[in-house]
Amino acid sequence: MTTPLRIGIAGLGTVGAGVVKIVQARANLIAQRGGRPITISAVSARTRDKDRGVDLSAYAWEDDPVVLARREDIDVFVELMGGSDGPAKAATEAAIAAGKDVVTANKAMLAVHGQALAEAAEAADRVIRFEAAVAGGIPVVKALTEGLAGNQITRVMGVMNGTCNYILTRMESEGLPYEKVFEEANALGYLEADPTLDVGGIDAGHKLSLLAAIAFGTRVDFPAMELEGIERISIDDIHHAADMGFRIKLLGVAQMTGRGLEQRMSPCLVPATSPLGQLEGPTNMVVLEGDAVGQIVLRGAGAGEGPTASAVMADVIDIARGTRVSTFGQPAAGLAQSRAARASAAAPYYLRMELEDKPGALAKVAAALGEAGISIDRMRQYRHAASTAPVLVVTHKTTRDALDHARAGFAATGVVVGDPVAIRIEEV
Ligand SMILES: NC(=O)c1ccc[n+]([C@@H]2O[C@H](COP(=O)([O-])OP(=O)(O)OC[C@H]3O[C@@H](n4cnc5c(N)ncnc54)[C@H](OP(=O)(O)O)[C@@H]3O)[C@@H](O)[C@H]2O)c1
Repeated sequence: MTTPLRIGIAGLGTVGAGVVKIVQARANLIAQRGGRPITISAVSARTRDKDRGVDLSAYAWEDDPVVLARREDIDVFVELMGGSDGPAKAATEAAIAAGKDVVTANKAMLAVHGQALAEAAEAADRVIRFEAAVAGGIPVVKALTEGLAGNQITRVMGVMNGTCNYILTRMESEGLPYEKVFEEANALGYLEADPTLDVGGIDAGHKLSLLAAIAFGTRVDFPAMELEGIERISIDDIHHAADMGFRIKLLGVAQMTGRGLEQRMSPCLVPATSPLGQLEGPTNMVVLEGDAVGQIVLRGAGAGEGPTASAVMADVIDIARGTRVSTFGQPAAGLAQSRAARASAAAPYYLRMELEDKPGALAKVAAALGEAGISIDRMRQYRHAASTAPVLVVTHKTTRDALDHARAGFAATGVVVGDPVAIRIEEV
């Protein structure tokens, strides 16, 4: 009989219970694929007597995940509690120090402490695997670290927060304002306890920072990411974008430029006919571009019990097989400290503004854009009943600096009311 791989699971919520279910239901299949049985030795959560819909009676219980992480009878510590610090980090560090491999779904912890944890693991000759931390069930970490290892990666893009995509697509399909759909999503339990993690782009930004580290061989640098959430997106923007053949997505883009590593997570217009433009509801999509392979599109469930547990199990099975891949696809000590690109590459922009209904107002706006060196691709004025009129402008490629210059110019025209909305148009 081959020696089983023994795991200890800390965290028995959505993902942890899902992992227990797969281990119990697919024992034979997993043993065949991993080359050895995978067994659970011990589990930990906050509340012992909670019904989790799975039979835990065969496993030892630990109240303290750090104690679980150090147990002699586990080979792999599976961290499914969450949180960038606290018990997740303490138990992960304890597991590495005790000579265990680690599998985690915790993007927040890795976005903040990934470099230090990866170095500690490699110094102890252990691995940290985190497929479930990025885009749930989509095997994008494996695709980048293994399937595309022979490529120079040129760009990584993704819609990686299902809740934001759900909110934006529901606003569009039902014609509902942001606040209403936000409340609905909250009532359905789709939002994190702190909703800004979702709608502020932080959760998706954590994921993108991990992919960027693998793609470009750089240290995880989440603080350098340009972050903007979806809170300012109005139903008007969604309708106007649709009129012009675009859809609005919370899109992450990471690319290495001559100016350094560009990482941004922000609402963007994408062509409605592109794969990203066609994405509906809570589904995630990651687009990877490599010099040899061209473009790869991965699409699937970015969250939920089954998809996330599927990704955790893939990592555990890899460890059972003896596959040892460095955390970020190359030894952590060799990862470069990236220079953060100060401003993103030039792009066309969508501008929406309210103009006073006065003769010459449009000409003043056009002049302010021209003064900032921005040329206009399309301009539309909508019918209106009030004293101001909504005007849309799609610019040719321009920079954020030029746009800021134009905004200052708008203020001086005396015809632009309020602060115009500017959304980047991403070429995909
Ligand atoms: N849910 C998803 O779809 C999804 C997708 C991708 C990644 N993730 C990541 O997966 C991880 C887990 O997410 P989840 O949705 O499964 O969370 P969850 O449902 O809230 O479960 C968290 C679990 O951790 C336990 N826990 C919390 N603090 C603990 C402590 N101090 N000691 C011991 N146990 C503790 C909780 O115990 P009690 O049950 O007793 O309260 C609970 O079982 C997070 O890092 C999350 O970001 C989740």
